[in-house]
Amino acid sequence: MSGVGRTGTDLDAVKETLACQGQEHVLAHWDSITDAQRDTLLADIARLNFTAIAPLIDTHVRREPSFTPPSNLEPAPSLPARPGLDEAGQYADAVKRGVELIRKNRVAAFTVAGGAGTRLGFDGPKGMFPISPVKNKSLFQLFAEQILGTNRRYGADLRWYVMTSPSNDAETRRFFEEHAFFGLSPQRVRFFQQGLMPAFDKEGRILLDAPDRIAFSPDGHGGSLLALKHSGALAEMAEADIEALTYIQVDNPLVHMIDPLFLGLHAMTGSEMSSKTIPKADDLERVGNFALADGKVTVIEYSDLPDELAHARNPDGSRKFDQGSIAIHILSRAFIERMTADEAHFGLPWHRAVKKVPYLDAQGRRIEPDAPNAIKLEAFIFDALPFADKPLILQTLREEEFSPVKNASGIDSAETARRDMNHRAAAWLESAGYYVPRKVDNEPNGLYEISPTFALDADHLREVMHEIPHMTPGGSHYWE
Ligand code: UTP
Repeated sequence: MSGVGRTGTDLDAVKETLACQGQEHVLAHWDSITDAQRDTLLADIARLNFTAIAPLIDTHVRREPSFTPPSNLEPAPSLPARPGLDEAGQYADAVKRGVELIRKNRVAAFTVAGGAGTRLGFDGPKGMFPISPVKNKSLFQLFAEQILGTNRRYGADLRWYVMTSPSNDAETRRFFEEHAFFGLSPQRVRFFQQGLMPAFDKEGRILLDAPDRIAFSPDGHGGSLLALKHSGALAEMAEADIEALTYIQVDNPLVHMIDPLFLGLHAMTGSEMSSKTIPKADDLERVGNFALADGKVTVIEYSDLPDELAHARNPDGSRKFDQGSIAIHILSRAFIERMTADEAHFGLPWHRAVKKVPYLDAQGRRIEPDAPNAIKLEAFIFDALPFADKPLILQTLREEEFSPVKNASGIDSAETARRDMNHRAAAWLESAGYYVPRKVDNEPNGLYEISPTFALDADHLREVMHEIPHMTPGGSHYWE
């Protein structure tokens, strides 16, 4: 419908479509808006994909889709974080293979940064949030420096795909430009926008954000698969012979973005989608759970895992479902191509969330609800796992790789992420054999930050640290 005129038969066609869908109210303010606003509204209407939306109104908006967890859930098999005797050879080969893929630029980094970040409440795209303990570097800068550090370490020139949403795209690009892409080549960084879904009231009517605007929100990180295709990024990857994307979310400053071991295992086992896992902090931790259902690897959300399974124990007393999903994946390009080939039958399910969404009422007044009033629909990337051939799960350590910035305070906040970055830097220094002053409660005494351009992990630090660092108790210490 894009490019439709605001008069005559085109407008009639729009009216007819809306009427057929029971959404005529979208044009309720047509007579009182300017021509420019009418164009804006028509462009918004053109974005509505009724073929996808119409069936969802009954199944997901007017009522909550019922979810019955599969009755035969079992823990999913996974590989250990540190190889035992059995895996030592395989892991050494995998690191070599991973390094080779990096050297040949056969992989690219991928960051989903299109979310609204409502819980954090930061004024701006979440990737701009300052987080590192000493230099206060932004999340985006830390990721850029990981790519720089990886390029330098392996003589690579990796591409970085960054998914934004229409509401944060311009600001994200501006941030990169203002910071000269943090030293990366602008030609190797590609931004693209994800898809949108309208918000609905509980009766299934599309909400208006303004007389000329539909209340859209990003369609979830699962929307990244189609967005990669629609933006041309997928075709570009094929052209550049890129085999796999390392998927990370914008909120985890500890993530190892490009991990040779993980990449190598993914490639060597022929996995189409691989994921990292950590042991859960407690039975009910709010992370997804990797599980096997009918022989397929799947992620069961914490809210969907039956209580008796959440608390279930193995004979040795350990937690039975103990594989938390931390949103670190590798996706083969061929898998993304396969998943997105037939868009009419795109496989990822929609998830329903009831949220507070400001809207325009029938009288044209803007309402700021004080209770959740609207239904949003999102797709999740981990729902691609059951479609993947030979999915692989690799264990990692929480203190090494997971401390997301989700909330303004409390758990998973900036405060906990900064603390965990500090802990990890201190642990790397100690594992390299240096003395780090600690307080009586064993907290590092001082602030420690290691730029990813200096060292990418503890082993790397050991290789590159040539002088004994001088660490004054209580001081701020930084290496780059
Ligand atoms: P979250 O699930 O934490 O959602 O996203 P959010 O929108 O960022 O934050 P809240 O829930 O409003 O507080 C996890 C990751 O997925 C990305 C986010 O940018 C973050 O990296 N994401 C989420 C998208 O890229 N698009 C989306 O539509 C949703």
